Amino acid sequence: MSSIKNILVTGGAGFVGSNLCRHLVTSGSIVDCVDNLITGREESISDLMDYNSFQFIKKDITDSDFVSIFKQNNYDEIFHLACPTGVPNIGRLAEEMLITCSKGTDNVLTLARLCNAKLVYTSSAEVYGDPKVFPQTESYNGDVDPVGPRSAYEEGKRFSEALVSMYVKKYGVDAEIVRLFNTFGSGMSPDDTRVIPQFFKKIRLGENIVIYGDGNQTRAHMHVKDLVRGLVLVTAKGTPGDVYNIGGSKQMTIKQLAELIDSLTSSTVNIEYRPHFIEDHGGRLPDTNRIQSLGWKPVVSIAEGLLEMMPGHGVPINKNIENMSKVYTGQFDQNICFEPLL
Ligand SMILES: NC(=O)c1ccc[n+]([C@@H]2O[C@H](COP(=O)([O-])OP(=O)(O)OC[C@H]3O[C@@H](n4cnc5c(N)ncnc54)[C@H](O)[C@@H]3O)[C@@H](O)[C@H]2O)c1
Repeated sequence: MSSIKNILVTGGAGFVGSNLCRHLVTSGSIVDCVDNLITGREESISDLMDYNSFQFIKKDITDSDFVSIFKQNNYDEIFHLACPTGVPNIGRLAEEMLITCSKGTDNVLTLARLCNAKLVYTSSAEVYGDPKVFPQTESYNGDVDPVGPRSAYEEGKRFSEALVSMYVKKYGVDAEIVRLFNTFGSGMSPDDTRVIPQFFKKIRLGENIVIYGDGNQTRAHMHVKDLVRGLVLVTAKGTPGDVYNIGGSKQMTIKQLAELIDSLTSSTVNIEYRPHFIEDHGGRLPDTNRIQSLGWKPVVSIAEGLLEMMPGHGVPINKNIENMSKVYTGQFDQNICFEPLL
């Protein structure tokens, strides 16, 4: 039997998916990337088109012929990432989120069952809603409003998780759930609606950085390289049916994040506060003990990850990476680490 793996990545033209496809292809696997490009971009995988072991198929995973088309490929592993993303998109793409998370996930799980493939599903910290418990462990059930303004994404992810769990129990599918906390890094579209690309975009345009709310809401950002290592690790060592949080270990307020980016870029723009356009979550912090027990830990600091993103965004870097630990003198969490980028 060949040791070369045949892998399907759904949502492979997205931010995380493109980084994952790149890792898998350059590690010697044969990779099919399926994506309908609703929030992804073909440019993010253009460098991979030169590889014979990589194929992009533009297709919606909710299509009724999805399983019949893909089942002949007999995948060894499936990374199921496809889902429209971005908090500002929740209203506009609510239907697509719900159908992708229900019908789409059901199709992908059926495919995994027919191929006898191992599957990893990328869920989200949003399944915890606006958490009341810190840090969030996998056993925390969260605080989610099923008809609230964020419900299309939050309940979509929760329903997908229920489907994965059912396929493990009823059909013996070898599948794990990974709950991703805020991830950033190279490969994010400059137009991505998430906070870090938005801050960069404003600086690039010479406009004020806009913070929605008072800026005291916290997030624990994780670099995409750490995430990709975690997804591959869970595929190799995870227990079917188990849920694994993955995310950064340091909480930072959105205001601190804006100040850090402002400081790193020598920007002359101001920070502007506006009322939030959607009900926001006060904070998020993952308990990652379970995935750490498999051998994972995050190694890329937020400052280094931000620096790595800057040239692609056309933002001048005013600081030398060797001086990073001396750069930022603001009030952000002093535990923010500055380890070398791997
Ligand atoms: N990046 C994060 O911080 C983060 C946090 C929590 C969870 N996640 C989850 O991780 C996964 C990847 O996120 P991302 O940041 O790369 O987002 P992304 O929007 O960049 O990538 C998702 C991809 O899925 C594709 N897609 C959506 N619906 C589809 C459908 N019906 N058929 C085929 N393709 C479809 C999109 O076009 C896009 O390319 C998503 O499931 C997301 O919910 C990401």
